Amino acid sequence: MVEELYATEAAFVAPEVRVADIVLPNQTNTFGTMFGGNALALMDKAAAIAAWRFCRQPVVTASTEHIDFRAPVHQGEIVEAMARVIYAGRTSLVVRVHVYGEHPFEGERRLCTTGYFSMVSVGPDGRSIGVPRLIVEDDAAREEWPVGEKIHTAIITRRTERYGTRPKA
Ligand SMILES: CC(C)(COP(=O)(O)OP(=O)(O)OC[C@H]1O[C@@H](n2cnc3c(N)ncnc32)[C@H](O)[C@@H]1OP(=O)(O)O)[C@@H](O)C(=O)NCCC(=O)NCCS
Repeated sequence: MVEELYATEAAFVAPEVRVADIVLPNQTNTFGTMFGGNALALMDKAAAIAAWRFCRQPVVTASTEHIDFRAPVHQGEIVEAMARVIYAGRTSLVVRVHVYGEHPFEGERRLCTTGYFSMVSVGPDGRSIGVPRLIVEDDAAREEWPVGEKIHTAIITRRTERYGTRPKA
């Protein structure tokens, strides 16, 4: 039933989602490293899967928040996105995505990019609907919750300043 699907009384733990790929030549820039737009697409997909696995409801990407491309991922390397819901608002989720580059034979692995995404759950009419509460039960989740909360607050402030809008009550 739709009512059950969209129930907001639900509360779940958020799983860490891993999405891996190989950096092929058509995904690189002129430096032979992964093109930022392709990295963003991978991150956005990982964020969507993390949101789906958490709430099992449709979501759309409402915003990309801070994204720091700290180190390149090279052509021929394994690129892996690790995504987790770190904060649940009323109808939105903040998802953290780390991207690692990994040498396929030496196994050397490094954190290359970190970004945050606001994913909003929507009903069949495209309007936002309630999400489950997030159960914060491990140390990593406890550490990341305040980061997500701060991002959610910043989004509200930004929307109010730019557009004069606040989330509907
Ligand atoms: C995201 C969307 C559904 C929000 O609709 P809306 O009527 O403005 O939503 P509301 O004002 O009721 O806010 C609902 C939630 O969305 C969040 N939100 C809305 N606009 C946002 C934005 N620009 N950035 C980040 N979060 C946003 C709010 O913070 C709120 O979260 P909360 O309920 O947890 O507090 C709507 O703007 C939309 O459909 N955008 C296009 C999405 C899209 O096409 N994405 C790309 C492809 S997936």
